[in-house]
Amino acid sequence: MMAPSWPYPFWVAHRGAGKMAPENTLAAFRLGAAHGYRMFECDAKLSADGSVFLLHDATLERTTSGQGLAGQLSWAELSQLDAGSWHSRQYAGEPPCSLAALARFCLASGYALNIEIKPSPGSERQTGQTVAAQAERMWAQAHTPPLLSSFQPESLAGALHSAPSLPRALLLDTWWDGWLQTATALQCCAIVANHRLLDADTMSAVRRAGLRCLSYTVNELEQASALQALGIDGIITDRIDLFSPAAPLALANGAP
Ligand code: G3P
Ligand code: MG
Repeated sequence: MMAPSWPYPFWVAHRGAGKMAPENTLAAFRLGAAHGYRMFECDAKLSADGSVFLLHDATLERTTSGQGLAGQLSWAELSQLDAGSWHSRQYAGEPPCSLAALARFCLASGYALNIEIKPSPGSERQTGQTVAAQAERMWAQAHTPPLLSSFQPESLAGALHSAPSLPRALLLDTWWDGWLQTATALQCCAIVANHRLLDADTMSAVRRAGLRCLSYTVNELEQASALQALGIDGIITDRIDLFSPAAPLALANGAP
C-alpha cells in the first residue's frame, strides 16, 4: 500500500541551488527559486546554545570563514561568519542561515522544504528532537509540513518523539541490514536513497513496504530518466541549471 497523500513537488534543489551558490545560504534558496524550484533540501544542525542553523559539515572550514566544530559556537558567533566567500566573490559576506530565516522564506511563497537533520557527532537524538520541535512551531499554520530526513535513525527517533505529526524519511547510502524495520519502527513515510541503490527490484521492495521513494543527488539526465521510469516520487538535484521543475525531465534553457 502506498502512503496516501504526498504533497511535495517532484524536483528538489539540493542545498538551495546545488553548486551555483553557496550551499545552505538564503542566497542559494533565492537562486533555486529563481530557477523555478518550489522545494529545497537543506542540512540542519544545532549551535552550542540550541539554535537550529544550516550547515552540511560538522566543521566550519570548508564553507565558512570560521574554524573548528560548528556545534561548539553559539548562534550569535555563527551568524557573524562569512558563508559566501568560499564559493565566489559575488557572495562575499553572505551569512549562515538559520532554520527560522529559511522557514520565513519558504512560508512567504509556499515553497516546500526537506530538512535533513545533520547532527554534530554525539548529538544525534538531541538534534532530531530540537529540529522537529522548532519546525513544528514554525510550520504550524502551513498547508505542507517540512519533510524531515536523516541518515541517523537516532535523529529520526528524536523527531518522532518531539513532533510525531511531522513526516519523516530515512536517508540511505547503502542497503544496511534492518533498514526497512528501522524505517517502519520510526514511522517513516519515505526513504531517500542514493540513486545508485535503486533498480526495479529495490524499488519493488520499497513499494511493498508502503513507502514513498526519493533519490539524491541526481545530476545526470540518464540517471533521472531511469529513476522516472522506475516511478520515483522525487529527485534531489544540484543541477538547477539543467533540470526544469516545470515538468519531470524538462530541461532548463534548452540544455542538451
Ligand atoms: O538529503 C539528501 C542529501 O543531501 C544527502 O547527502 O551529504 O549531500 O547531505 P548530503
Ligand atoms: Mg543534505
